Amino acid sequence: MTGRRKVAIYPGTFDPITNGHVDIVSRAVKLVDRLVIGVARNSAKNPLFSQEERTQLITDIVAGLETGTAEIEVVPFQKLLIHFAEDVGASIIIRGLRAVSDFEYEFQMAGMNDRLNKGVETVFLMADAAHQPISSSLVKEIARLGGNVADFIPPLAEQRLLEKVTG
Ligand code: COA
Repeated sequence: MTGRRKVAIYPGTFDPITNGHVDIVSRAVKLVDRLVIGVARNSAKNPLFSQEERTQLITDIVAGLETGTAEIEVVPFQKLLIHFAEDVGASIIIRGLRAVSDFEYEFQMAGMNDRLNKGVETVFLMADAAHQPISSSLVKEIARLGGNVADFIPPLAEQRLLEKVTG
């Protein structure tokens, strides 16, 4: 291949991965040669799934995705996002934007990451309208209270989530 390979990271907590995240992954692989999905430990969020479980679940789900010529790798991390980007040689951070409410937090994070390393560009992809209201917290709450989450997360994620919430 000629020229530099475009490497991007798509970071998040993914507790668990939703159809909204999968939608962003499917869009991102059209733009880059290699997409590293960075799974943050994020103890502050007190995740339901361990970092290892989230990483494994995403690995299993993306294995079934059509990615064209792009490679996908799922990697856990526990450091500054910008340092993780540098470690994997990424020049792009992918983030999904759903509603206006995402904007302020994302704007701040992109600004700080830009201050930390000017060589890494944050690129926002719009989530599909059908996925706009989905969040991992709401999906977990619906599952805990016995609601149906099949429309919001991949079947394998639903299976693992139900195993968790029903013990
Ligand atoms: N579709 C559906 N839901 C989506 C979505 C999409 N396309 N994109 C985000 N979400 C949801 C997630 O499910 C999550 O929902 P929840 O809050 O109910 O769990 C929420 O939006 C935001 O989650 P996510 O996109 O996973 O990001 P995050 O805020 O959990 O993670 C990190 C942010 C990990 C990228 C950030 O904390 C980070 O960079 N950490 C490393 C430390 C660091 O560098 N800090 C300094 C940053 S300047």
